[in-house]
Amino acid sequence: MKKILLCPPTFYDIEYEINPWMHLENKVDKEKVTEEYRQLWAAYESLGAKVLEINPVKGLPDMVYAANLGFPLGNKFALSNFRYPQRREEAKYAKAFFEKSGFDIVTLPDGVYFEGQGDLLTTNGKYFLGWGKRSSRQAKDVLSRKLGIKFIDFELIDPYFYHLDMSLGPLNKETVLMKPESFTQEGMAKIKKEFKNVIEVTKEDNEFMACNLVVVDKSVVIGQGISGKLKKNIEECGFKVVQVPMGEYRKGGGSIKCLTLEFY
Ligand code: ARG
Repeated sequence: MKKILLCPPTFYDIEYEINPWMHLENKVDKEKVTEEYRQLWAAYESLGAKVLEINPVKGLPDMVYAANLGFPLGNKFALSNFRYPQRREEAKYAKAFFEKSGFDIVTLPDGVYFEGQGDLLTTNGKYFLGWGKRSSRQAKDVLSRKLGIKFIDFELIDPYFYHLDMSLGPLNKETVLMKPESFTQEGMAKIKKEFKNVIEVTKEDNEFMACNLVVVDKSVVIGQGISGKLKKNIEECGFKVVQVPMGEYRKGGGSIKCLTLEFY
């Protein structure tokens, strides 16, 4: 059974700008975001996933993007080291939550940034790490040593898509959704080497952060608004497509995967 951690949007709003999607004047509609959260939660529950919640904290509006809190692997939890001071305190609450749940906390040295599942994705025993915008390149060596895993790493080059999970959405061993403009030529070559079926997402679908998805068994949870063509493409790979509205969360620069911390 898939286990997931979410953080309710009680204190979510646009209180600062740390990525190009965020605009102070573009405030969050509380009612709408509560409904988006409810639908996301309901989608996971209906797919049979077990949903846990971490308590939101006043003054930490971006804590709703639970994927960024760290990376749980077995009994270890690699705790994030946020690049922006506005988000650093979230790590304190993540540490307390995972410690209490019995995890051994793995940390990174000061100045080596790491933003959890925003930049670290895994599928079928492979680990993908993005760096250059939020996480540091050096996170690769530190985490491989401390977690005992090997990474396929990517430099991220599009400021709008500053986390790996915004540009790479693995569906399974063979298939991945990806946004080509976010990667260097070398990165593109790595993706093509790792996946037999590479679905290049269009500019229109990237407006809805289509790569920012979560797979639960044979279903893909993805932001509402994606094109019929992409939907069909995913269905042809044997998946059911579950769309959840994400308009309020996109104001903060995130979507489905950003909100979802998955346990492995
Ligand atoms: N406002 C948040 C930030 O800029 C959004 C995080 C999006 N998360 C993600 N996993 N891509 O840090």
